[in-house]
Amino acid sequence: MRRRLVAGNWKMHGSRAVNLALLTSLKRSIAQVGGLDVAVCAPYPYLEQVAESLRGSSISWGAQDLSEHDAGAYTGEVSGSMLAEFGCTYVLVGHSERRVLHGETDSQVAAKFVAAQRAGLVPVLCAGETLEQRDGGEMQGVLLRQIDAVLKMAGVAAFKRAVLAYEPVWAIGTGRTASPVQAQEVHRHLRSLVAAQDAEVAEGLTIVYGGSVKPGNAKEIFSMPDVDGGLIGGASLVAGDFAAICSAAAEVQ
Ligand code: PGA
Repeated sequence: MRRRLVAGNWKMHGSRAVNLALLTSLKRSIAQVGGLDVAVCAPYPYLEQVAESLRGSSISWGAQDLSEHDAGAYTGEVSGSMLAEFGCTYVLVGHSERRVLHGETDSQVAAKFVAAQRAGLVPVLCAGETLEQRDGGEMQGVLLRQIDAVLKMAGVAAFKRAVLAYEPVWAIGTGRTASPVQAQEVHRHLRSLVAAQDAEVAEGLTIVYGGSVKPGNAKEIFSMPDVDGGLIGGASLVAGDFAAICSAAAEVQ
């Protein structure tokens, strides 16, 4: 049975006071659920606060990006080993906002994936198409390019210690969600790309869906056979919503 994960992506939101309230509430509402991992990915400056608050709880934490380099003259960058020092389990890699707003290329994303694992972190590799690409019939090509770059650089065995996130760019923060059937189709396709190299690794790979997941649509999406949880943006900032989404994921296992 595949592990399921619900990860919150706080993006550039929060303050020490807001985080404290959110984390306190999450610890109260999210009890240990068998087979379900819950995590929050916070902005760098808050990792210490998050670590202090969540240590000893059933909730893990992580970051939203990392440098592909281990150390050196890279002003403003943060390495995987620094994140590991803060107790991070996960790190997002190749989120569409990094790809689009910061011009991250497929090979840079692949290098970040490798750097994350080098530091002992579990990379959550994000892949997804824009509406233009979907409508133009380029979706499969785009996904193949994004996944292939990582498969080539890291090797398929590296996916034993990674999570894949399907995040259609047109569904992120827009209120538009991929239908459960659309999500299932793409998740199955992504799994088949990995299966082409190693069927066992593909079968064990956790693939989560991200893009306007809310308490009202979570259960339907999570009940698809190849959807193993979610990457939650906006709704992860509201404790009650995030807890409800986690419960939905726990219910469908
Ligand atoms: P959203 O964001 O849930 O606000 O659509 C998801 C993400 O970007 O990870």
